[in-house]
Amino acid sequence: MHFLFLSFIAAAVWGFAQARVVPASHLLHEKREHAGTGNWVKRARTAPHVKVPVRIGLRQNQYALSQAQQWLMNVSHPGSENYGQHWTQEDVINTFAPSDDSTVAVKEWLATALPSREITHTKNKAWLAFDATVQELENLVHAEYYEHHNGDRAMISCEKYHVPASVKEHIDYITPGVKGVHFESKDLKKRSRRPNQDGSGYASRNGRQPPQIRPAINTPLQQDQLDTCDQIITPACLQALYDFEPLPPNATISPNNSLGVFEEGDYYSQADLDSFFTNFTSYIPNGTHPVLDSIDGGMAPVVISLSGGESDLDFQLAIPVIYPQTTTLFQTDDTYYGLQLDPNVTGIFNTFLDAIDGSYCTYSAYGETGDDPILDPVYPDPNLPPPNGYQGQRQCGVYAPTNVISISYGEQEEDLPAYYQQRQCNEFLKLGLQGVSIFVASGDTGVGGLAGHGSANGCLRNGTVFSPTHPNSCPWLTNVGATKVYPGRTVYEPESAANDPAGHPYHNAFSSSGGFSNIFTVPDYQAFAVQTYFADHNPPYPYYNDGQYNTSDGLYNRNGRGIPDVAANGDNIAVYARGRLATQGGTSASAPIFAALVTRINEERISAGKGPIGFINPVLYQHPEILNDIVNGTNPGCGTSGFDAVPGWDPVTGLGTPNYPKMLSLFMSLP
Ligand SMILES: *[C@@H]1O[C@H](CO)[C@@H](O)[C@H](O)[C@H]1NC(C)=O
Ligand SMILES: *[C@@H]1O[C@H](CO)[C@@H](O)[C@H](O)[C@H]1NC(C)=O
Ligand SMILES: *[C@@H]1O[C@H](CO)[C@@H](O)[C@H](O)[C@H]1NC(C)=O
Ligand SMILES: *[C@@H]1O[C@H](CO)[C@@H](O)[C@H](O)[C@H]1NC(C)=O
Ligand SMILES: *[C@@H]1O[C@H](CO)[C@@H](O)[C@H](O)[C@H]1NC(C)=O
Ligand SMILES: *[C@@H]1O[C@H](CO)[C@@H](O)[C@H](O)[C@H]1NC(C)=O
Ligand SMILES: *[C@@H]1O[C@H](CO)[C@@H](O)[C@H](O)[C@H]1NC(C)=O
Ligand SMILES: *[C@@H]1O[C@H](CO)[C@@H](O)[C@H](O)[C@H]1NC(C)=O
Ligand SMILES: *[C@@H]1O[C@H](CO)[C@@H](O)[C@H](O)[C@H]1NC(C)=O
Repeated sequence: MHFLFLSFIAAAVWGFAQARVVPASHLLHEKREHAGTGNWVKRARTAPHVKVPVRIGLRQNQYALSQAQQWLMNVSHPGSENYGQHWTQEDVINTFAPSDDSTVAVKEWLATALPSREITHTKNKAWLAFDATVQELENLVHAEYYEHHNGDRAMISCEKYHVPASVKEHIDYITPGVKGVHFESKDLKKRSRRPNQDGSGYASRNGRQPPQIRPAINTPLQQDQLDTCDQIITPACLQALYDFEPLPPNATISPNNSLGVFEEGDYYSQADLDSFFTNFTSYIPNGTHPVLDSIDGGMAPVVISLSGGESDLDFQLAIPVIYPQTTTLFQTDDTYYGLQLDPNVTGIFNTFLDAIDGSYCTYSAYGETGDDPILDPVYPDPNLPPPNGYQGQRQCGVYAPTNVISISYGEQEEDLPAYYQQRQCNEFLKLGLQGVSIFVASGDTGVGGLAGHGSANGCLRNGTVFSPTHPNSCPWLTNVGATKVYPGRTVYEPESAANDPAGHPYHNAFSSSGGFSNIFTVPDYQAFAVQTYFADHNPPYPYYNDGQYNTSDGLYNRNGRGIPDVAANGDNIAVYARGRLATQGGTSASAPIFAALVTRINEERISAGKGPIGFINPVLYQHPEILNDIVNGTNPGCGTSGFDAVPGWDPVTGLGTPNYPKMLSLFMSLP
């Protein structure tokens, strides 16, 4: 009788969700700042018997994070005696792992609170993981857990939780906590929406920069013809502009220097590649294709009617530069997420980084752990059956990163929370430590953003302030802006910044993106170049500092990381897409061109017994003479003419375009 009475009282207490009494030994660890969680609607208290996976993020090695920039410079600055001495992935995991003290202290707490519970210490050492019922978890961290629903998805989280004072300093955070975990709720019904696969549009992720397309000139072209490079850019034009030759088709190549290319929601067609090889690079046989590293259901190639402008462009640019070296296609995300059928999933690159670095799947920093439960795709995909919905587990560490990775996708800084970008930027730094070079298209909207992002015209603070691009603002990768051979100019004259006003010749205005980050400050390796730019060519616009654009009338962040670092041709590019020869414009083209040339340099270094060059910026900023300085052109946006390309570094074309012989000679002289 007594027992039943107690249990009745307990049930009533659950119903009222009475505030818990937190013992004095426990301190508040995390509290949600805003009432809501985006589009998630708070529902009932989670039933006490529900079992959840609990993960305790052990505090990252703060010393390691504070030293990381120095360590990257140590292996990538040309003045360092350790240039090229890249770290192994093991080195990275061990160095950034939490200290043993943290692990022991938290394990002791759990051993007392949940005796004989099986606790796993993850391979990257950052997490302790175990299963618990909601009731056990609520007692452990003195919290109340609720279900949140968003359409067909459900998540469990709490508004605040507590941990003992003795372990507080060792814990980064706990999930489920303020940050929720997904779970299967009984009241969820599976949808059976089919993706629109008519291929009518190019990759349309919020803020992605689709390449711009128009029909090519109508005159037959010779493969080595250079007098039409002001109308259509072929492999021969690029060879003349940057002074390199293709490798002999029978050249000996390194087995592990393939060029990695990221794609998402856009797919190449073999028939398009074959048409391109046939008409522009007869030394490349039909059927030449990238090695597919399929990530979370990403598949390619597709039939010619479904091919997209981005993938066809990237491979038609990169393969001719590096053949017979191979390319590796990181085709990321299933069709549902790839084609942006979930408008709420606006994150980008995290599932890709998970796949090439298993430790990133569970790495936590800036309050962001693993993938973001709201912004990133969820696998197994709850939205669609296979083949469009990938039903496997999210892939972690299944592929080795290639020495060079080219990325022609991006968004605006404004589209994603700063913590999301900071955590991802740390990962780019760790890839740099391991000798990986990452080249990213700087964007196609000048100093502004895509219309509808931040404001109707894509600019910030009521459509006036310049809008920097993501992930470009991360200082640990290399941004590539676009240049152009203007009408009447030849490949033997200097190029200018690419800028096509709306209708000339593309439907939408295209101007090479550049400017200054609102999130990241100027890195040491870039400080001199940026200071010199301001001293010698001070732009005419008012500015602000520390990213605080709401509290001043400035238009750009004076102490932000400068974008881009370098440039390469990105206008009137010849491409076969969906069976037709067309020309495309965009920094989408510039990134694979630069990345391919760096792959060639790595090839030469490897055959000379050296390693890949890894993070390239410190060398470039120390040796701007190995690039062709671009001194003409602008990148308009936000109702202004943007910045000017000037002698030296500028926020339009960076340090300039590749001078391949000079680059090769310098990098061969480095250890
Ligand atoms: C996205 O968010 C909106 C707004 O809250 C919501 O109505 C919609 O159901 C969500 N879409 C999906 C696919 O989850
Ligand atoms: C670079 O790293 C090496 C090896 O860890 C260390 O011995 C050296 O002191 C570092 N150099 C600088 C300039 O930090
Ligand atoms: C190659 O170009 C010629 C003329 O420029 C054209 O007739 C032919 O169709 C093209 N070949 C392919 C495979 O596109
Ligand atoms: C590559 O082919 C060229 C011309 O056919 C020949 O002279 C050369 O010896 C070949 N090189 C190798 C490495 O087979
Ligand atoms: C790359 O391949 C070469 C030749 O097989 C080998 O010596 C080297 O260790 C490889 N490097 C890596 C990072 O796998
Ligand atoms: C290669 O493919 C193109 C496009 O399909 C075709 O026009 C050409 O005849 C093919 N070449 C060979 C040698 O098969
Ligand atoms: C934004 O612009 C509109 C129209 O010019 C103006 O009415 C409004 O006050 C501006 N808002 C801010 C915050 O500047
Ligand atoms: C500026 O204000 C907008 C609109 O309120 C807000 O979304 C944005 O986060 C603010 N940015 C900064 C840097 O304060
Ligand atoms: C400078 O750039 C403009 C476009 O911004 C172009 O029209 C012009 O031809 C370029 N001048 C030279 C000298 O390259």
